[in-house]
Amino acid sequence: MLSYQHAYHAGCLADVHKHAALAALIEHLQTKQKPLSYIDTHAGRGLYNLASAESKKTGEAAAGIVPILHAGAIPPEHPYARSIAETRRMLGPAAYPGSPEIARRLLEPDDQLYLMELHPQEHAALKRVMTAPNIHVHKRDGFEGALALSPPTPRRGLVFIDPSYEIKTEYQAVAEFVLSLNGKWPTAVIVLWYPVLEAGLHIGMADALAKAALPNFTRREISFGERGKLHRIKGSGLIVVNEPFGVGQALDGAGKLAATAVNASMLPR
Ligand SMILES: C[S@@+](CC[C@H](N)C(=O)[O-])C[C@H]1O[C@@H](n2cnc3c(N)ncnc32)[C@H](O)[C@@H]1O
Repeated sequence: MLSYQHAYHAGCLADVHKHAALAALIEHLQTKQKPLSYIDTHAGRGLYNLASAESKKTGEAAAGIVPILHAGAIPPEHPYARSIAETRRMLGPAAYPGSPEIARRLLEPDDQLYLMELHPQEHAALKRVMTAPNIHVHKRDGFEGALALSPPTPRRGLVFIDPSYEIKTEYQAVAEFVLSLNGKWPTAVIVLWYPVLEAGLHIGMADALAKAALPNFTRREISFGERGKLHRIKGSGLIVVNEPFGVGQALDGAGKLAATAVNASMLPR
């Protein structure tokens, strides 16, 4: 039974971290001008409204992307800023792009997008908004689906893994999935997001992957400081496998961006 709905959390500090990193990675991969495959194992509904009752209830966007945009902290040419601006031009000033929408805005018509979402309503909403011949929306378990498709054509590409971690065993399952995925598609750039929790549930997963000798493996974590206490998450973690050469600074920048919102002076009063 899936109960997590990203509408409550869209635009939160963790989204800023993972979405800025995702956008920077996609932009970096495009410098080669060869088609890409993009697989989103946990796609969500694709588009969010930060003026919705769900968003207002948690206040996570109001302490995340909203003050960052108000402060002009993201250069407008950053691919994350561009995808937000383009989404807002089409859908209004409170719209916020989820990972599938960010990928769609930055990718080209000859790139292939595979979006997996298991929750019936989230899947239905995603299917309504993601319509193009190169976008394939699957109502399917993202782990099973990504392994079944790997390696896809084209073979250059990126897999974005953003589970809701609703059950404790998911951490172990994610570690096993990343290892299997790298075995089936050794050149895939794998981007895994995880929450940094007081209970330390993420530690076994991240340590197991760090010890697995995966190619060009990197791990970055940022702290949410006092803000974390409010939203019961201490920080945000990102693991990248096959991190492309030259993108490290942009990935560090994604963390710094999220960290700027942690600064109390930027928060709405
Ligand atoms: C954190 S949200 C995804 C947010 C999205 N990646 C974004 O950045 O906009 C996680 C999503 O995974 C879905 N989900 C949970 N378990 C799943 C599974 N095994 N396979 C596919 N989707 C799943 C949930 O319904 C939820 O919509």
